Amino acid sequence: MKLWGGRFTKEENQLVHNFNESLSFDRKLYRHDIEGSIAHVTMLARQGIVSEEDREAIIAGLKGILQDLEAGSLVFTDEHEDIHSFVEANLIQRVGEAGKRLHTGRSRNDQVALDMKLYCRDEIGEIDKLVKGLMEEILKLMEANLDTFMPGFTHLQKAQPVTLAHHMGAYFEMFYRDRTRLEDIRKRMNYCPLGSGALAGTTYPLDREYTAGLLGFEGPTLNSMDSVSDRDYVIELLSALSLIAMHLSRFSEEIIIWNSNEYRFVELDDAYSTGSSIMPQKKNPDIAELVRGKTGRVYGALVSLLTTMKGIPLAYDKDMQEDKELTFDAIDTVKGCLALFTGMIATMIFRKDVMEASAKNGFTNATDAADYLVNRGVPFRDAHGIVGQLVLYCLERDMALEDMTIEEFKAISPVFEEDVYEAISMKTCVEKRVTLGGPGRTAMMRVIEICRERLEE
Ligand code: ARG
Repeated sequence: MKLWGGRFTKEENQLVHNFNESLSFDRKLYRHDIEGSIAHVTMLARQGIVSEEDREAIIAGLKGILQDLEAGSLVFTDEHEDIHSFVEANLIQRVGEAGKRLHTGRSRNDQVALDMKLYCRDEIGEIDKLVKGLMEEILKLMEANLDTFMPGFTHLQKAQPVTLAHHMGAYFEMFYRDRTRLEDIRKRMNYCPLGSGALAGTTYPLDREYTAGLLGFEGPTLNSMDSVSDRDYVIELLSALSLIAMHLSRFSEEIIIWNSNEYRFVELDDAYSTGSSIMPQKKNPDIAELVRGKTGRVYGALVSLLTTMKGIPLAYDKDMQEDKELTFDAIDTVKGCLALFTGMIATMIFRKDVMEASAKNGFTNATDAADYLVNRGVPFRDAHGIVGQLVLYCLERDMALEDMTIEEFKAISPVFEEDVYEAISMKTCVEKRVTLGGPGRTAMMRVIEICRERLEE
């Protein structure tokens, strides 16, 4: 059924209908479409534009549609062009004449802009909850692993010792920034487009402030042409989702590496791993790989919508209908990834002994050995050279710095004394890094306190 049959003399070509329709995907917006219509008609009646009786009939009809859709007794049928046409046609069927008055002072252009905003606003809330849930798991790991030593890497080469708490803290920061980004977007987008009409507002005495208030917006938008053609907030959301996906992907990559036979830093729970159809010994990190892999389609959505929007003259053009499928997909993808990833790290076992042994065997304390010499008057550049010789000596003998006897130390530099062992122990190396942001226990305890507050905000 068409909303616009009046000026046409021919039936729509079926292929045109199929190409043009959006009901097959924008049905996802039915709740928001109905919510917006209820607010609109409430305002129309308040302004005396429709009667109280019509308002009552329309609202009852809309609530009936919502109920029947949720109960499954009303199904979407493909003769309708989009969710807006579907709801209006159904309303008219249910309540007759009154239903025909709902669209007074409104266009599908401001209607779809509103639906998409209401949907994105709800989803921002859902995604935020999931990111918060993940951060809670990360914080638990931080609290439990202040003394779990592990190698910190640069160039994927062992660099300096850190702790698992410190490593996890890096991800806490990333996801914290993601949450603040979501909050920013919500604030910036929270203005109501309803009342903008097709592009140039309307001649009816609408109360846009009132509708905006009913729908939980900060106020009405200020330019009707911008209102119907603004999809900035969708692009911003896709950009925030891309960053979340990127963070999840980096984390996944580390888990895949840590779970490998070579590293063995972690062991994934059986429930979060999969086997091979041919190799009986395999236990694969498929979930982490899929999270990493799905990042591509989230980026794809962002680039796709940026490209769609770049050539659109004011105001509404049908190109904008292309915002829906990819946004729905990106949102569902990121929500799925967040839920799975959180479950995966909550059940994963960290092999603390393997991590610590790895930190010891990779000369991660070499910088601290050089600092030891500097503290005894040796210029840093010379100290660097001396420790370089120590490392070479150990490499040839397949041993760690702390395995050398004091005689061996002294043979390379007489400055070394017995206290060198204490100075280059894993514990000292980490504990001495006390400045805020470092892995030392006191610094980490302060940071954990701040992290906890951030989660309670
Ligand atoms: N399905 C359309 C969309 O998603 C709704 C707006 C249609 N407006 C119009 N003038 N054709 O953008």
